[in-house]
Amino acid sequence: MKSLQPAIVERGKLSRSMWASQRKGETMKKVQAIIRPLKLDEVKDRLNEIGIGGLTVTEIKGLGRQLGDVEPFISASAGGGLPKMCLEVAVEDGLLERVVDAIMRTARTDKVGDGKIFVFDLPDAIRVRTGERGADAV
Ligand SMILES: Nc1ncnc2c1ncn2[C@@H]1O[C@H](COP(=O)(O)OP(=O)(O)OP(=O)(O)O)[C@@H](O)[C@H]1O
Ligand SMILES: [Mg+2]
Repeated sequence: MKSLQPAIVERGKLSRSMWASQRKGETMKKVQAIIRPLKLDEVKDRLNEIGIGGLTVTEIKGLGRQLGDVEPFISASAGGGLPKMCLEVAVEDGLLERVVDAIMRTARTDKVGDGKIFVFDLPDAIRVRTGERGADAV
């Protein structure tokens, strides 16, 4: 920590971008979408079209409601869970609804198990190479 400080201050990028983000009030959200593996490529294409700068994809197993809205208990028959893909995307607030809408429209088949989207407040992000902060970094 101590050894990093002088280099960052010399370049001046960290403090400038921190101020810029705070001035503009650019708050961010993290979107975590659990989708069907077969829908991954199409969702990635749509997010690319919106101009998303990066995303994280993880293969997961998950459990939802067994029979959609009718049955409120998680499926016991799925064992460790059904294979799903977990996408995580950090976006500035202005892009949130477009991202959610793109995932919704693309991942939806109208059958149970289409997935779920969770939205989290994201207080900060840091681009390691440049030291940019906040919305400038995503
Ligand atoms: N409440 C939850 N908390 C965390 N993860 C969840 C939750 N509900 C669903 N998931 C994740 O989403 C995946 C897909 O869930 P699923 O689409 O079956 O949701 P659902 O609520 O049962 O909706 P549907 O009625 O359309 O099946 C699950 O495998 C799990 O990874
Ligand atoms: Mg379900």
